[in-house]
Amino acid sequence: MKAKLEFPAGFVWGTSTAAYQIEGAVTEDGRGRSIWDTFCHTPGAVLHGDLGDIACDHYHRMAEDVGLMADLGLSSYRFSISWPRIQPQGSGQINQRGVDHYRRLVDLLRQQGIAPVATLYHWDLPQVLEDRGGWPERSTADRFADYAAVVAEAIEGVDRWITINEPWVAAHEGYTLGSHAPGRKDLRAGLAASHHLLLAHGRAVRRIREAQHDATPVGITLNLIPVLPATNREEDRLAAERVDGYHNRWYLDPLFRGSYPDDMQGLYENSTLLDFIDPADFAEIGAPIDFLGVNYYSRTAAQSLAASDGGDATELETTLGAATARRPELPVTAKGWPVEPAGLRDILVRLSKEYTSVPLYVTENGASYYDYVDPEGQVKDPERVAYLRDHIAATHQAIRDGADVRGYFCWSLLDNFEWDDGYSQRFGLVWVDYSTQRRIPKTSAHWYARIAQTNCLTTGGERDAS
Ligand code: GCO
Repeated sequence: MKAKLEFPAGFVWGTSTAAYQIEGAVTEDGRGRSIWDTFCHTPGAVLHGDLGDIACDHYHRMAEDVGLMADLGLSSYRFSISWPRIQPQGSGQINQRGVDHYRRLVDLLRQQGIAPVATLYHWDLPQVLEDRGGWPERSTADRFADYAAVVAEAIEGVDRWITINEPWVAAHEGYTLGSHAPGRKDLRAGLAASHHLLLAHGRAVRRIREAQHDATPVGITLNLIPVLPATNREEDRLAAERVDGYHNRWYLDPLFRGSYPDDMQGLYENSTLLDFIDPADFAEIGAPIDFLGVNYYSRTAAQSLAASDGGDATELETTLGAATARRPELPVTAKGWPVEPAGLRDILVRLSKEYTSVPLYVTENGASYYDYVDPEGQVKDPERVAYLRDHIAATHQAIRDGADVRGYFCWSLLDNFEWDDGYSQRFGLVWVDYSTQRRIPKTSAHWYARIAQTNCLTTGGERDAS
């Protein structure tokens, strides 16, 4: 059955990227070293030993890439600013060439009528700050607030500021699980990092507001993962609640309710993992924000650790008393992530019911698939079209169900450096040939452009089967 889903007037359609994933040029124009430079050059850390040194060479091809967005008729672009380009030493001295680069980007976007949305931290911590202890150290939050003020002062014309992208990933993949830079494996360090990332966010909100002459909206982006119990047994239901506490409520509660959730605080305190919290921090973390960014990829399922077969449980699983349950029946992307559009509707509606009335933006959603260039030189990606169609429809459903969603940003504009997966995962609307840096818009890019231009999604017709 054919349906025409119209979005509210002024709905924003964009794409998202992150500095380290696309820029390359890691030693140019005075950029300092980041923890990702160090991590990539650590043998065994990144799949195939891939490096971000060149990536999509976007640093040099910025004008061409903005041109691609203009051709697609997109109304907004979410990018991140590389802290070590602005402050190579992580504090003090400002690198003017770094500032100028992002000023140029903002100008190029404005000339094309594309609204710039700038993320201040997408995981590329200056290495010098990691050498002084990194995010588990409180002082890193001070350094971040100073950096945020510098950027807000120096760069005009941004439509929205996002302080931190996905504190859960930065903290736990970086410090608890060790799969991301800086590659530490220590739950206490991960929890301390996540606290200081939240504190850094709250302080940055205040500093950005002080630094700015105009009142550019400020928010944060969280990756939210709805958690299902593996079975309807009580122990799995409780396990799912704890995993929700760990992934979602641990960030949402301090941002919107002024404290960590009691159940989780109790759980972590039992293992004396929380000695870095100052109760006064919550007033700073809860600084009012103008919008919330939501990154959504899939749900997860949890089961009680006792019920799982996990003999070799990690410190985290033991603390949570929970393990991830496999769900082999679900379709997955090339990254192995389950495809579950209903989870996007659910999380957006839950946020507006339980947490906040600030406008919501889907700041990332997308999928990697096994794309290839065919003999005609085209990249046909019907799986991605279907994935985006179903998630955009779920966003529409969330709006109908009362969530105040104002925009959708597809991850990602370009195929790019997918962190510890290197270049093996292609999330782009636009194919990148890494040996020539040639860009080829995939079928999904043209499909998405139509939605952006008409502000309307047609489902059930033949057009989206293309
Ligand atoms: C994220 C990340 C992106 C990833 C994407 C796909 O914020 O999680 O912003 O950097 O590339 O999520 O894994």
